[in-house]
Amino acid sequence: MTSSQEQFGAHAAKYAQSEIHRAGPSLPVLLDFAAPTRQDRALDVATGTGHTALALAPRVAQVTGLDLTEAMLAHARQQAGAAGLANVTFQPGDAEALPFPDAAFTLLTSRHAPHHFHHLDRFLAEAFRVLEPGGRLVIADQISPTPELQPWIDTYQRRRDPSHVAQRTVAAWRELARAAGFGWARDTLVPYRLEFGWWVAQSGCAPETVRALREHAASLTAEEQDAVGLHFGEAGELVAHTEQMLVVRLEKR
Ligand SMILES: C[S@@+](CC[C@H](N)C(=O)[O-])C[C@H]1O[C@@H](n2cnc3c(N)ncnc32)[C@H](O)[C@@H]1O
Repeated sequence: MTSSQEQFGAHAAKYAQSEIHRAGPSLPVLLDFAAPTRQDRALDVATGTGHTALALAPRVAQVTGLDLTEAMLAHARQQAGAAGLANVTFQPGDAEALPFPDAAFTLLTSRHAPHHFHHLDRFLAEAFRVLEPGGRLVIADQISPTPELQPWIDTYQRRRDPSHVAQRTVAAWRELARAAGFGWARDTLVPYRLEFGWWVAQSGCAPETVRALREHAASLTAEEQDAVGLHFGEAGELVAHTEQMLVVRLEKR
């Protein structure tokens, strides 16, 4: 079992019900950048409990949601059934080895998930392969402000969720997208303020993990704390952090 399957398998129900994951502010921006049409054959990679695939379904001809974790897919299928959506299917599979023929889709999306992928270059190569020429890939994923702060951020995120792999900078994303053959069409950053108590509860963190996270936050200078988006209360306690979500439209030209 992978660390993603372990982590998301244990917390699938919380994820399915979380309002910020279901309808948080990256979703309308992703949909705007994707510009879905009734002709699109869409694939949502690492769909989780299907929030993005379910939002796409009424706007496209058909959509497939793919994920490593069966427990997440079970919630996605249930929600599709409850909403009466007949053009969405969910299946297990790995983002780094997409189980589809070349040029099978016109639109790919992946929201709040690529920071879990071990080899982003393999995912991007696979995305390029399964897209038709003229197709687009729209990503929403959290980024690090600088390469210097990325190791601190990755440690912070991984303590809370061991399936976290890497929170890359926008420059790293640009280089990886270019190397895979994509044109970089359009991007923006969408801030997510996440309350600390809620954030650790979502991942089921033990009290010693919460303590370690607070200590990790205290290990930065005030300037670095500001740069990584940490927020402190009047008594100096950590109350929240703001993650910047990169939303980007890549094109197979
Ligand atoms: C934060 S959740 C997904 C969020 C979802 N896309 C949304 O819009 O709400 C991350 C998901 O990535 C999945 N995942 C992680 N690595 C994966 C991989 N290599 N291939 C497919 N799914 C993966 C996990 O199982 C988990 O369901």
